Amino acid sequence: MTKSKFIYVLALLATAIALPLSARAQQQQPVDAEGHQWWQHSVFYEIYPRSFADSDNNGVGDLKGIDLHLDYLKQLGVDAVWITPCFPSPQVDFGYDVSDYEAVDPKYGTLADFDKLVADGKKRNIKVILDFVVNHTSDKHKWFIDSRSSKISMHRDWYIWRDGKGPNEPPNNWLSTFGSPGWTLDKKTNQYYYHYFYPEQPDLNWRNPAVEKAMLDVTRFWYKRGVAGFRLDAVDTLYEDPALTDNPPAPGTDKFGRPNQIEQFNKKLPEVHDAMRKLRTVADEYGSVLIGETWTTNVNELKDYYGAKNDELQMPMDLMMTGFKGLNAKEYREHIAAVNAAGQWPVYVITNHDIVRSYTRYGDGAHNDDIAKMMAALYLTLRGSAIMYYGEEIGMENNDPKSREDVQDPIGKIGWPLEKGRDGERTPMQWTAGSNAGFSKAKPWLPVPASAQTHNVESETKDPDSVLNFYRQLLALRHKEPTLLEGDYFPLNEDDPNVFAYLRRYKGEAILVVLNMSATPQKVNLYLGPAGFTTPKISILLNNAHAPVVGTPEGLSLPPFSAMIAKITQ
Ligand code: NOJ
Repeated sequence: MTKSKFIYVLALLATAIALPLSARAQQQQPVDAEGHQWWQHSVFYEIYPRSFADSDNNGVGDLKGIDLHLDYLKQLGVDAVWITPCFPSPQVDFGYDVSDYEAVDPKYGTLADFDKLVADGKKRNIKVILDFVVNHTSDKHKWFIDSRSSKISMHRDWYIWRDGKGPNEPPNNWLSTFGSPGWTLDKKTNQYYYHYFYPEQPDLNWRNPAVEKAMLDVTRFWYKRGVAGFRLDAVDTLYEDPALTDNPPAPGTDKFGRPNQIEQFNKKLPEVHDAMRKLRTVADEYGSVLIGETWTTNVNELKDYYGAKNDELQMPMDLMMTGFKGLNAKEYREHIAAVNAAGQWPVYVITNHDIVRSYTRYGDGAHNDDIAKMMAALYLTLRGSAIMYYGEEIGMENNDPKSREDVQDPIGKIGWPLEKGRDGERTPMQWTAGSNAGFSKAKPWLPVPASAQTHNVESETKDPDSVLNFYRQLLALRHKEPTLLEGDYFPLNEDDPNVFAYLRRYKGEAILVVLNMSATPQKVNLYLGPAGFTTPKISILLNNAHAPVVGTPEGLSLPPFSAMIAKITQ
């Protein structure tokens, strides 16, 4: 090879290597001097598409409905929407049973509607996150239809098939978390297939490289369409013990009346982390974010999901606060201290489409709106990314079915009355006090609660004291005050059993958050000296109480369930 040819080949090689790298670097531009990425500054808003807005008036929400309300979301202060599954689906689990990963369910619209939603979002700086159901497909997915057709079909090994232990005896004792056995016998081939969720949701076999490749390709399909990331469904159930070891028993029975077991061999297997790393590698090529449905029991487990080299999920959800009973300052303080000590970027979640709404969980019947605002002041001022659930901002409450006949969610039918299912937290978004809460002209798929009369976007927009206006101001502050995005977390008054107080500190300034988590007035003396403010000046930024919080940091009087956010300067 001549010298010039050699240089030419070298240059070609360099371009080939440098191009993807520079494209990648460009997509992952930090948004601030601290090197934070876009998703660290973002407020994510979860939308259950069946229930958000019904543009074609058939009782079920759709993508056009979401598109029509982008301005509402912009005004609220939302940076990204996470849309729960909108792919073709028999809707046994309302979309979490996907029959085609690369299309849109006609109930929700078309791919063109989706593309328009992404484009309209972009105009408003609102990104779109999709929900990727990684553990299982619908039994109507073409992969499973082929898989079940014969023992030698091309897709047989894409799912988990085994012989029973004996006649009418499943391969082992694993249970479905949705109330049935974990195995269903398929008469055609006389083998059982495994499903952690409904029998209509067979588990994919992630040990098969063809499955892994197909699933990674699905993410590429959507990234190329402009999706900014995925919320990964049920990641801890991706792998099972190949030896099918029985799970050990645990004391008591579950809500379906079955003896409890420790899910040692069908959940949280270490291989999950390999899959997360592979999904992350692809996400990084597109500057995208991975949010995990990560049910963890402690902060160490949560930490593992970020990856030993920060090479797994950027945003594993901290769902632990959803399990706290009541409002206990000590419990919140300890948890948040542990999360901060772990050193990762936190992602606090207080509710979603599987969990009783926070308004219902925390409300005491007398101070419900104040409590809703106080909880907002908590999860939206902490260090980290925030994920809201649609309707939280207007104080929507659960509307649980009154009888088994009314239930739509299959687990509510199987588990009634102990388990009422999740319909209550999935009711239509309350836009107005008019018929069907302005969600649809047709009867909605789930009933609207009576509280829609008072808690709806239209009425609350007019009321300066509404939950909605509190959220709007709070989110505006979050975007305006760098301290709320960048500041460290400094706990105050750590022995107080009723008042949870902390500073977020940044560049010589701080934002003080004081939350009275009790139903009685409280007095606090917050000495800010150790935090670096010996002669602090306080100016209140936001306050939820009808009776204002009064005093200085050294002597504050706090009405029940009050939340105060103030700027502190030296
Ligand atoms: C978790 C989802 O949030 C839930 O709604 C769904 O039923 C299960 N995963 C199964 O996909």
